[in-house]
Amino acid sequence: MHDQLPQHDPALERILLSADRIATRIDELAAQVAADYADCTCLHLIGVLKGAFVFMADLGRAIRRAGGPPLVYDFVKASTYGESIKKQGETHRKTQIEGLPRSIRNADVILVEDILDQGFTLAGLRDAIVRDGGVRSARVCVLLDKQLEVPTEEVTAIRRTIRPDYVGFTVPDRWVAGYGLDVNESYRELPYVAVVREHHFNSGGPQ
Ligand code: IMP
Ligand code: MG
Repeated sequence: MHDQLPQHDPALERILLSADRIATRIDELAAQVAADYADCTCLHLIGVLKGAFVFMADLGRAIRRAGGPPLVYDFVKASTYGESIKKQGETHRKTQIEGLPRSIRNADVILVEDILDQGFTLAGLRDAIVRDGGVRSARVCVLLDKQLEVPTEEVTAIRRTIRPDYVGFTVPDRWVAGYGLDVNESYRELPYVAVVREHHFNSGGPQ
């Protein structure tokens, strides 16, 4: 029941990651984090809104269940794609960042993101939080790492500079939605991650 596509939704192709698989993997990630931060007295999770809000809630609770350190939650809002989705041959996208947390000086920080795609968002955030924020340590945790099929040279160069420390799943080069991730603000509440039929959302298709 949980793992059925919404009926008659032609914009969704198939379920890629079931709710059970996601939950199991998050427990594994949490155990890793708990072990890595065994000596830490306070770990700051910085979630990237909006997409990471579901992942962040589940990951934080799993870290505590796994015996990890007390957590502080912060959020930053980043917008890279807005109402659009990725097209082929992109070289640059401007990421808008709002609400940088002020209290991260000297903190141990994990940046929690829903998905690493072309890398524009995490590159912008890394500069803002890690370089300018004065943190003591910073790691990156992404639920999904997209394996790009034909990245431009510019994207390849950006991706090379971003190596997430914790990765839930690698996913194919398709637009995905659910478990916090959206297409044009829809589907965030789905308990699983589904593959989207991109032609429904690219220009020319129905909006
Ligand atoms: P990047 O900047 O190209 O790495 O894209 C990362 C950001 O774009 C993430 O924060 C997501 O919110 C969004 N994004 C990228 N790919 C997808 C996708 O397949 N589904 C939903 N959101 C995505
Ligand atoms: Mg996002």
